[in-house]
Amino acid sequence: MGLNLRRVLIVASIPGSLFAIAIFITLVAPRLLANTWHPAPKEPIAFDHSVHVQQVGLDCTFCHRNTATGGAIGGMTAGIPDVQQCMFCHSAVATSSVGAPGFKMDSAQAQAEIDKVRHAWQQQRAIDWERVHRLPDHVRFTHEPHIQAGFDCATCHGDVGSVGQVVQVRSLNMGDCVGCHRANAALTECATCHK
Ligand code: HEC
Ligand code: HEC
Ligand code: HEC
Ligand code: HEC
Ligand code: HEC
Repeated sequence: MGLNLRRVLIVASIPGSLFAIAIFITLVAPRLLANTWHPAPKEPIAFDHSVHVQQVGLDCTFCHRNTATGGAIGGMTAGIPDVQQCMFCHSAVATSSVGAPGFKMDSAQAQAEIDKVRHAWQQQRAIDWERVHRLPDHVRFTHEPHIQAGFDCATCHGDVGSVGQVVQVRSLNMGDCVGCHRANAALTECATCHK
């Protein structure tokens, strides 16, 4: 009887541990991995990429000019457009007419966010965007060689044009950088990426 019970427990524990492993792989591991990347910060204005890329039809480089040409990549102002560039349109686009398919906000919310942009401009105040991606200071990275090698933005940033808020979708840690360099016969000496 006791022996049978023990056998039952052992047999029962096999699917039990398989289940635990399955739970770990499907639920726990992705979170552990995801936590090594930065969680999406709360931005001062709910800027919606899909509205500007898909509905308005802007190219990434219309706003992120220095990203394609190299530029100083360290500072936020290098890659993110300043308010003046937003006002290129938002002096005229002052009221929201959203409601069309593809827009994620209702018009009241969109209006409130557009008002924030216009107020920042009236007060000659910069918008303090929070960084989504940030490499440590000892790492050297510039966009230019990557764009010139033929990679598009989505290779590293995913399909930004169809999301509301940008999140980091690729680890871009040392293993990731070196792995791609190796696969493409690019330099892998330490000094390539470290100052
Ligand atoms: C109308 C201007 C505009 C256009 C067009 C635009 N962006 Fe942006 N982008 C911004 C602004 C403003 C931010 C800062 C707010 C944020 O992080 O969402 C930003 C943030 C980002 C970030 C995160 C930067 C960080 O903090 O790490 C990435 C990556 C990015 N954009 C990629 C793209 C790509 C790829 C495209 C084209 C598919 C694109 N953007 C088109 C204005 C624009
Ligand atoms: C080429 C023109 C253009 C530029 C440049 C531009 N926008 Fe817009 N933006 C629009 C249009 C058109 C809409 C849709 C307006 C509506 O709601 O009907 C819009 C909508 C918005 C909204 C409301 C979001 C929503 O869901 O409708 C915000 C917030 C916004 N823009 C912020 C910005 C910021 C910040 C910048 C500068 C980084 C910027 N825009 C640059 C044309 C532009
Ligand atoms: C090979 C991978 C890769 C590609 C391709 C790439 N990026 Fe990036 N991007 C990064 C990394 C890594 C960072 C973080 C840089 C840092 O923290 O110094 C970054 C940061 C950014 C930022 C934040 C501000 C800045 O200048 O650092 C923006 C905006 C951005 N990328 C937009 C783009 C756009 C637009 C494209 C396409 C024209 C693009 N990226 C293509 C890897 C890439
Ligand atoms: C998708 C593939 C890919 C990823 C991811 C990638 N790189 Fe690169 N990188 C390349 C290729 C290919 C080149 C070589 C381009 C050339 O030969 O001009 C390059 C060139 C460079 C260069 C210039 C090297 C020189 O010629 O002096 C630096 C610096 C660099 N990468 C740093 C990084 C860092 C740091 C990361 C991670 C944050 C990274 N790269 C991620 C593919 C990638
Ligand atoms: C293709 C780019 C690239 C090359 C080549 C590279 N690294 Fe890195 N390294 C990175 C990036 C990106 C980080 C920051 C992200 C991370 O910690 O993974 C980093 C981080 C580090 C760190 C800090 C780790 C920590 O925990 O803070 C050390 C130490 C380091 N690298 C040493 C080296 C040495 C030694 C070599 C040469 C054998 C080398 N790296 C080659 C991209 C590179």
